[in-house]
Amino acid sequence: MEKRFYIKTFGCQMNVRDSETMAALLHQAGYKSTTEENKADIIIINTCSIREKAAQKVYSQLGRLKKVKQNRPGTIIAIGGCLAQEWGEEFFKKAPYLDVVFGTRSIHKLPELISKVKFGMDKVSDVKSCDYSHLSIRAIPEEGQVSAYVTIMQGCNNYCSYCVVPYLRGPEISREKSDIIEEIKFLADRGIKEVILLGQNVNSYGSNLKGGVKFTELLREIEEIEGIERIRFTTSHPKDLSQALIEAFRELEKLCEHIHLPVQSGSDRILKAMNRGYTKADYLMKIEKLRSVCPNIGITTDIIVGFPGEKEEDFKETLDLMEKVRFDNVFSFKYSERKQTKAASFPDKVDEVVKTERLRVLQKIQEEYTLEKHRTMVGFTYNVLVEGKSKESPLDLMGRTRDNKIVNFRGSSELIGRTIPVTITCAYLHSLRGETAT
Ligand code: 5AD
Ligand code: SF4
Repeated sequence: MEKRFYIKTFGCQMNVRDSETMAALLHQAGYKSTTEENKADIIIINTCSIREKAAQKVYSQLGRLKKVKQNRPGTIIAIGGCLAQEWGEEFFKKAPYLDVVFGTRSIHKLPELISKVKFGMDKVSDVKSCDYSHLSIRAIPEEGQVSAYVTIMQGCNNYCSYCVVPYLRGPEISREKSDIIEEIKFLADRGIKEVILLGQNVNSYGSNLKGGVKFTELLREIEEIEGIERIRFTTSHPKDLSQALIEAFRELEKLCEHIHLPVQSGSDRILKAMNRGYTKADYLMKIEKLRSVCPNIGITTDIIVGFPGEKEEDFKETLDLMEKVRFDNVFSFKYSERKQTKAASFPDKVDEVVKTERLRVLQKIQEEYTLEKHRTMVGFTYNVLVEGKSKESPLDLMGRTRDNKIVNFRGSSELIGRTIPVTITCAYLHSLRGETAT
């Protein structure tokens, strides 16, 4: 009988794309996917460990998996992703019922590792590989899929002092431009209208490639691909955001007016301790340049509160920066100590209660800014790319404006995949409501 696999994904978009690769590999190996975990012969957990909270979410799954193994001993359980890379074979001590542990650069070996278990090997692991070949493995778009992730690079060389990514995802490697272009043409041929280019630091795309290919060159080539209507990318590092990329927002028609530009803090002292390579003034200057080229650009960011040594005045600098920029949205986190990182050994750790309070204050202020921004959109009409049915109601559709706002509106499913004008009628914190303007 056909063996079925189920993948549970934690964490970022990069992990979502890695899970698509795992699924493509397992399909090639003759397995079928299922959306019901209790029907699966193989369960794969793709983990995240960027913050303690993300790791905790994975640990809480382990107890459940133990029961699955007790009830259905034949089930193969594999754990991959950043937490698997961090823990390696230690995971077998933590959870002896696991069959496979595989790292962030061993994804291409997943079918082989599973076969070993099927042929009787006990506790198979591979976290030592340093192979990036999985980045070129294509995911076949699903029926009706409109938007697709395309990984253009992996890893990071920046070593921000709080961050585990360089240790767990390895050094920064860019894929060949021709390889990426071929993948996007393949997606366009299968009906994909929007590509979201993924990398930890897309602004430095190409630095390891022969001839020093630039990110803007890649964007320009994607602009020429027939069928692709929208291009997005994430994540950008403020220190590497070039004038050429800023200009690209004006030049390239398909490049959507949205940038996610993580600032992390508004205090120069903290930015230095974080090893971010820019000051508050540098950041504000880049925002000014972006807005002078593209006045309606949506700008979102990440902020960490309670980094070691963060005093009340540092936090005030962050709030001041938020007031000056008025981000469309902020993803905010309490500093979470990760072993291996430099900041783990920094003195003056901030009390958990203080961190929680700072996060609360920051989020409350940002909610006002986000709502204020959304309210200014009411009564205006925007081009919305319809992505699918809305989660809110089966009668509604969901799409996004070019500046990445979610819009729900009434409409028939024939509109999925089309870009249509929608007039905004109501503004909420996380989405907008609209009516088709045609
Ligand atoms: N603690 C809290 N937040 C972190 N991030 C990364 N590492 C940590 C950490 N140790 C946040 C940063 C980053 C986002 C993806 O996660 O804001 O931009
Ligand atoms: Fe982590 Fe900094 Fe690299 Fe982003 S740029 S992945 S925060 S080390």
